[in-house]
Amino acid sequence: MSGFKAVIFDLDGVITDTAHYHYLAWKALAESEGVHFDHAFNENLKGVDRMGSLNLILAGSPKSYTMEEKLALADRKNRQYVELIATMSAADLLPGALDALAAVRAAGLKIGLASVSKNAFTVLDRLGIRDRFDYVVDAALIANSKPHPEIFLNAAASLGVAPEDCLGVEDAVAGVASIKSAGMYALGIGSPEVLTQADRVIPSLSEFRLEDY
Ligand code: BG6
Ligand code: MG
Repeated sequence: MSGFKAVIFDLDGVITDTAHYHYLAWKALAESEGVHFDHAFNENLKGVDRMGSLNLILAGSPKSYTMEEKLALADRKNRQYVELIATMSAADLLPGALDALAAVRAAGLKIGLASVSKNAFTVLDRLGIRDRFDYVVDAALIANSKPHPEIFLNAAASLGVAPEDCLGVEDAVAGVASIKSAGMYALGIGSPEVLTQADRVIPSLSEFRLEDY
């Protein structure tokens, strides 16, 4: 039996493949600004909030941008992203996601969601799983993006569970770093060569076994 009292999940790339939609929308924006964009660069953006991601992309451009121009670019990327997620449904849940949520619930643990995406509530509603969570962090209220621990600490506090009793689940390098600096156990989703700071890495939630951690 797991000794944890709560499991806090990331959303994009863990529960659903919106990570791919973020990739497509950022790639279109980067290329419109003459900045090369590929999957390797995209890894640096995972778990990083919208303006933080934009700043990382524009660092590759010789141009300098006013705040107004940056806000317009961020808004353009978000409009494309919102269009991409508009047709999502329960069919877009990643394999193992529902079973993992059910297993955590059946074991009597609390369930939190810690996504820095301001579209997280929309995505949860499209997937039809908002009521599976005891607490969903509102990204609009988080001042510091991952890798800062704020979002995972906020989730744990709202669930009433000490950080050391929480298991965090993440697909992003910045997200795993956020979990570790919050003092939690980090379960990485993806490749151990990429998520080197994680306590354990599995390829997808299909391999999620609560009793193993
Ligand atoms: C994170 C994604 O969950 O949310 C990032 O991993 C994304 O790729 C970030 O940039 C912010 O999302 P949004 O929907 O607020 O632009
Ligand atoms: Mg993610």
